[in-house]
Amino acid sequence: MTEDATIARRTGVSTSPRTAAMWAAVDEVVRARSAELERPLRVIDLGGGTGGLAVPLAVAGHDVTVVDPSPDALASLRRRAAEAQASSRVSAVQGDADTLESLVGRDRPDLVLCHGTLEYVDDPQATLAQIAGVLAPGGILSLVVPQRSAAVIARALAGQFVQALAALDRPDGRWGDADPVPRRFDRAGVVGLIEASGLTITGAHGIRIFSDLVPSALVDSDADRAALLDLERAVAAHPEFAVLADLGTSLHVIASRP
Ligand SMILES: C[S@@+](CC[C@H](N)C(=O)[O-])C[C@H]1O[C@@H](n2cnc3c(N)ncnc32)[C@H](O)[C@@H]1O
Repeated sequence: MTEDATIARRTGVSTSPRTAAMWAAVDEVVRARSAELERPLRVIDLGGGTGGLAVPLAVAGHDVTVVDPSPDALASLRRRAAEAQASSRVSAVQGDADTLESLVGRDRPDLVLCHGTLEYVDDPQATLAQIAGVLAPGGILSLVVPQRSAAVIARALAGQFVQALAALDRPDGRWGDADPVPRRFDRAGVVGLIEASGLTITGAHGIRIFSDLVPSALVDSDADRAALLDLERAVAAHPEFAVLADLGTSLHVIASRP
């Protein structure tokens, strides 16, 4: 069995239409950086939660520290790491964006993941500055944030036109006070935040472009799921179609520290 197949079997991250395009992009930069440095990477997963990404990276041989304020999430992370036989390469640390600097000693991270977390922090610009500050020279940021444009379209297609208008107009991009997502981002805003932190953007693509828009009743066979997976991967590999990227529930940006 190939290494890819092993990771897929043990974690599912590369075979779910919701995570496959994200994993493909992370896997590519991780392999390239690890080859450059000729060693496994030191990874911090800020807001890594239950380890959906941390554990596959540990299975691939990298050393991952998950920093998350939730003790419940960290307990699930430890269980998931144990099930994947990767506990020795996963550390669970209770903390948040503000504790990053105090966590990092001389061994600066080669990669910081910030997936589905920037919308929760008090000050996204300050968090990105902290990340840029702790990254090793040449280190990589992988950032995933929820997109306003996708929420507007999803609410409109669900017939929730008032909510769609709210998501369009509100500065925080939420469709209402009951929206579980605390903040959404526009592509230009994310680019501005990253550049202001001193990092250089090397790639950006939309994720969950079709898998969140298509009714699940239309994806009821393994062949449908496989075709949807291929479509998500293919669209993500064509960043020139920016209009399609804007339809993604989330925007995935890769940036590096000069
Ligand atoms: C939507 S989950 C994302 C989990 C995971 N990164 C993923 O992509 O599936 C958001 C995570 O951010 C964590 N979180 C909330 N506020 C945070 C903060 N200020 N600093 C770091 N993590 C935070 C939560 O505990 C939760 O695990």
